[in-house]
Amino acid sequence: MEPSIENYIKNLVRDAILNLQFQNDRQTYVIANWKMNKTIAEASEFFQNLNGRQDVNIVVCPPAPLLYPIQLIIEQFKKPIGLGGQNVHWEEKGAYTGEISTEMLKDVGCEYAIIGHSERRQYFLEDDAAINGKVKKALKAGLIPILCVGETLEEKNLLQTEQVLSRQLFGALKDIETSQLIIAYEPVWAIGSGQSATADLAEQTHAYIRSVLERVLGKRAESISILYGGSVNGENAADYSRMPNIDGVLVGGASLNAASFDEIIDVFAKGEPNK
Ligand code: PGA
Repeated sequence: MEPSIENYIKNLVRDAILNLQFQNDRQTYVIANWKMNKTIAEASEFFQNLNGRQDVNIVVCPPAPLLYPIQLIIEQFKKPIGLGGQNVHWEEKGAYTGEISTEMLKDVGCEYAIIGHSERRQYFLEDDAAINGKVKKALKAGLIPILCVGETLEEKNLLQTEQVLSRQLFGALKDIETSQLIIAYEPVWAIGSGQSATADLAEQTHAYIRSVLERVLGKRAESISILYGGSVNGENAADYSRMPNIDGVLVGGASLNAASFDEIIDVFAKGEPNK
């Protein structure tokens, strides 16, 4: 065999093995985004009723004042649940009225932080540079960013989905070299609208997102979990769970009720229900 051909084949095999290893590192997540909902009493009732599972990563992102009480509730009920903030600031501390630092999130037991949710991009005018600062700060503090990206209905209709996603990902991940993050693809038109993206469309878009991640982060892109978000419920969750590039879901409305959140968790969990 020509040495160059031999090398070529060796490289192909090495790449295939590397890809498989990275793919096997990929975790499945079911994440609740409670947005601006629930009191402490309501949260306590939710966790009393939630079965939860050990065989899938469950994360709940409540409003900031509920983080610490929920940390205590989770400990009390021994629930296998991770905690995340819905936002975080890019500075360490200082005169930023209304903002929350990474240290504060960690102090109350958070391991995750949602960053760049479309509602923050829309109502609080967060741009790609601000989101990049937040992702960097979260990573530095040891929090796992749940970076949200997605196109609006207008952008979708103008066939700009790939362009928008590419801009958001390159912007948010500028000067970042890690796979310690989660991406959530949340088409803005699907959020809270009942108009979820079909599993085929979501899979196709996730594959595109992974190709962009590969351009930004190289081979590590294979090990990054990409979640779908936008009107996920107990009925459509199974369709997403069957797709190779959909590694879980970020759930808003259907995560507010323990029974409907449990239905989604059961779909993504690997073993038998622990009821
Ligand atoms: P939804 O929200 O499930 O209510 O559509 C999802 C999200 O905004 O994270």
